[in-house]
Amino acid sequence: MSVDVLAVLGGRPAFDEPLHVGRPNLGDRNKLFVRMNRLLDNNWLTNRGPFVQELEQRIAETAGVKHCIAMCNGTIALEIAIRAAGLRDEVIVPSYTFIATAHALQWQEITPVFCDIDPTTHNIDPDRVEELITPRTTALIGVHLWGRPCDVGRLAEIAARRRLALLFDAAHAFGCSHRGRMIGGFGLAEIFSFHATKFLNTFEGGAVVTNDDDLAGRIRLMKNFGFAGYDNVVYVGTNGKMTEVAAAMGLTNLESMGAFVAANRSNYKDYRRRLEGCSGISVIEYDDRERCNYQYVVVEVDEEGAGLGRDELVGVLHAENVLARRYFYPGCHRMEPYRSFFPHSRLLLTETERLARRVLLLPTGVSVGPSQVKDVCTIIENALSAAPAVRASLSNRAAEATVAQ
Ligand SMILES: Cc1ncc(COP(=O)(O)O)c(C=O)c1O
Repeated sequence: MSVDVLAVLGGRPAFDEPLHVGRPNLGDRNKLFVRMNRLLDNNWLTNRGPFVQELEQRIAETAGVKHCIAMCNGTIALEIAIRAAGLRDEVIVPSYTFIATAHALQWQEITPVFCDIDPTTHNIDPDRVEELITPRTTALIGVHLWGRPCDVGRLAEIAARRRLALLFDAAHAFGCSHRGRMIGGFGLAEIFSFHATKFLNTFEGGAVVTNDDDLAGRIRLMKNFGFAGYDNVVYVGTNGKMTEVAAAMGLTNLESMGAFVAANRSNYKDYRRRLEGCSGISVIEYDDRERCNYQYVVVEVDEEGAGLGRDELVGVLHAENVLARRYFYPGCHRMEPYRSFFPHSRLLLTETERLARRVLLLPTGVSVGPSQVKDVCTIIENALSAAPAVRASLSNRAAEATVAQ
């Protein structure tokens, strides 16, 4: 492996195999196999079997909440929570999030009204929420992006004063805390994703957590077609159930949570230390006084300081087989159907627009080690120090690609 001559300048790619963002964190496979044998012996594959019940209990304990309802994925968990909480008409959400946050509303014909973010936290900016509230607004949904908590206190204050429901999309934030309290118990309900790329995975999966008994009861019915018992349907419902095999994976991975945090934390600290001196490059901060899962190494690229833009750096890294990603680009408001609904929303979302042009995610997780982090950082340093040559080479390549088409 060589990082001496950049691949965009004619060298060999630094990595033979692609280095991905979001490779799964995997626990002890022997323990998973033991559970798989047990679930086959049980002959109970779904419909809230023993593994799902155990996982729900463990997640509720970890998040410090009364109820956890496990689901087949985070998007369905969001949709069901939104419906069970009675949201309708308009709901205020950040645009700088995964598209599922907006789609979970639009899917049920609720209009997502996009709010700008605070550039320091990347989360919904409470100062910008109130100007978006109309007589049709029924709720606010905050997203704890990268596992960093929203300004929960201010959002709760606005929601209470304006009589709005408050939910949190906590897809990134399992295992994180805010002011010493675990994410999960804030607002009316919070939603986790256990997708393969998330800190804790169940292959695919998600959960709603809440301290509200009535809401939990409704959600349990809704995720099981509205069945309140044999032959008795009391609501319109859907199929949001988690399978036993998914729960077995979740329980196995939960046992390795400490190791996942340790690996992520060490990669994150390493990236920060190594990239500290790179002008125009900043790695976002996590609050070490809180519980963090450190699942995302998020870099902001300031083109002026770095000499290269974020997309140029992506080009450099991809040429080296480092599949760094720009996340949540270009923002929900620039994707359909929202782009057509609100063609001018970018004028109100200046911080979202700016951040979407700057963010770059670097590979981390249990499958990434110190030598890979070191090489990725060396590539970035080398690219910045040869910025004019890199820029020229990338633009030649782009021109050649256009001619070849
Ligand atoms: C912020 C956010 N919300 C919702 C989701 C949807 O979760 P899932 O993929 O489990 O449906 C994701 C991730 O995929 C996400 O990143």
